[in-house]
Amino acid sequence: MVREAHVDDVPATVDVYIAVAAERQWIGGELPIDRDERIERFSATVAAGDGQMWVAEADGEIVGMISLHPQRGRADLGMAILDAWRGRGIGTAMMEAAIAWARAQGLDKIALYVWPHNERAIKLYEKVGFSGEGYHPKHFRRKNGEAWDAISMGLVLRQD
Ligand SMILES: CC(C)(COP(=O)(O)OP(=O)(O)OC[C@H]1O[C@@H](n2cnc3c(N)ncnc32)[C@H](O)[C@@H]1OP(=O)(O)O)[C@@H](O)C(=O)NCCC(=O)NCCS
Repeated sequence: MVREAHVDDVPATVDVYIAVAAERQWIGGELPIDRDERIERFSATVAAGDGQMWVAEADGEIVGMISLHPQRGRADLGMAILDAWRGRGIGTAMMEAAIAWARAQGLDKIALYVWPHNERAIKLYEKVGFSGEGYHPKHFRRKNGEAWDAISMGLVLRQD
């Protein structure tokens, strides 16, 4: 089940984020992550309505999250699902909730970066209508000193 996140959900969403960051291959975030500081920051964002977040629940636990941070008509998207729950349609369901909200808000587009090796994420984004907008060599430095390439993708929502 996908639903809007409340402030009470923030610790569990931070735990999902940390677990996925620990895999070191899918998201930009890297360990060490200060859990308390992150909870404080996510809670403030949710409470202030600066960003919008949804969670996916399964077996009574939060197993995934997706967030949109709107600015200047564009919403930047981030999402993460625990390893054991991937490939079961949860990402698609969370994405549909986020896109519906962005459309209802009258936003112009949703934008994101993805690593070129993240085939499953790219498949999901293409499936829901995102297009590749650019290939960015050596775009993000990792903590181990490597510089990773990135692909920017966008879903344009307005027609004019
Ligand atoms: C990327 C992620 C959000 C996708 O969510 P998901 O729930 O696993 O994806 P879904 O089950 O909804 O599948 C979406 C599409 O991905 C593709 N897909 C699913 N499993 C796949 C696999 N093992 N390999 C390649 N593509 C796959 C399919 O095209 C699928 O659509 P379909 O089932 O209608 O054919 C999720 O896997 C995840 O959190 N990964 C780690 C964190 C991450 O990569 N975040 C995004 C950073 S940019």
